[in-house]
Amino acid sequence: MALILGIESTCDETAASVVRDGREVLSNVIATQYDLHAKYRGVVPEIASRAHIENLLPVLREALSQASVSLSDLDAIAVAHRPGLVGSLLVGVTAAKTLAWATGKPLVGVDHVHAHLYSVILGRIAQGPLPIEFPAVGLVCSGGHTALYAVRSWTDINLIGSTLDDAVGEAYDKVAAILGLGYPGGPVLDALATRGDASRVRFPRSMLGRESLDFSFSGLKTAVLYHVRGVAGKPQRPAPTEQEITDVAAAFQEACIDVLLKKISRAVSVVGSRSVIVGGGVSANNGLRRALSTFTVPVFFPDRAFCTDNAAMTAGLAHVLLAGGRTSALDLDAITHSQFLDA
Ligand code: KG4
Ligand code: ZN
Repeated sequence: MALILGIESTCDETAASVVRDGREVLSNVIATQYDLHAKYRGVVPEIASRAHIENLLPVLREALSQASVSLSDLDAIAVAHRPGLVGSLLVGVTAAKTLAWATGKPLVGVDHVHAHLYSVILGRIAQGPLPIEFPAVGLVCSGGHTALYAVRSWTDINLIGSTLDDAVGEAYDKVAAILGLGYPGGPVLDALATRGDASRVRFPRSMLGRESLDFSFSGLKTAVLYHVRGVAGKPQRPAPTEQEITDVAAAFQEACIDVLLKKISRAVSVVGSRSVIVGGGVSANNGLRRALSTFTVPVFFPDRAFCTDNAAMTAGLAHVLLAGGRTSALDLDAITHSQFLDA
């Protein structure tokens, strides 16, 4: 039995969680910074790291208290140390190192994007272990990432495709801003899409060639911008009606899902995979879940509580790493880009 404290501060969420045996989430505390960044329409790194410093200790205390454990009960301290904003990462990494040093517990550095895939395992105590068969294809689709992985085990995860420009969640957020729908855009566009008629507008699907496993969403975002505002040099379009907004939401969502489905299918053939794992904020999307419900191999999604950034997924994946002896030294670095977990 292992009790692990996870710490997450890669971007704009300060989170801490206690997880038992990599699956049972005893606490999952998240302090969001939406309000701080909303007026800038995006995350301001300096504001994010300052807010992490202010939030981290109360969030840690709350996570331990909700789980009814003290530091001495823990078997390890885990932290998402890559990829992310360097100032944000440093706050979590420094806190984790300090706790590990002060308590003498092992430190486990975790890749945040790999942890998004592991989030499908969290909770589900009543149902028993998930029947995921490896090799699997992993898709992490969030505000910061759109990436495909060949997952041969939880410690053998290789990048096989990624976005060349915007992440899909970022496209949702920008399209929502174009339509005046606020931030974050994913949940509101997802809800509107069910009421709109996608056949009224046709947006481009960027497939990047017949074999590519990479993504590009900036053309789609620009197509929505031109459709809504008109093209420079031509008379401005009148503000869209409510019906037009819902139709654009439906057509945009359909284009995103078409691309994601096509790329997953390609990846499944390339990897010869027996299952698909989807994680990250956009994995909460109802349209995507519906579209993948009849896929050729079983598809696994996280519980909605674990789709967006959280520390339970960090503590969960750390359980596997700890069991494999993959602990980290106290000179663990904050790394801004993703890379393989080499012990
Ligand atoms: O995983 P996450 O918290 O952050 C990153 O690591 O980037 O994901 C946040 C992203 C935002 O872009 C948000 O708009 C998107 O996930 N999102 C959704 C939905 N819920 C959240 N996108 C589409 N449909 C949703 N239901
Ligand atoms: Zn994330």
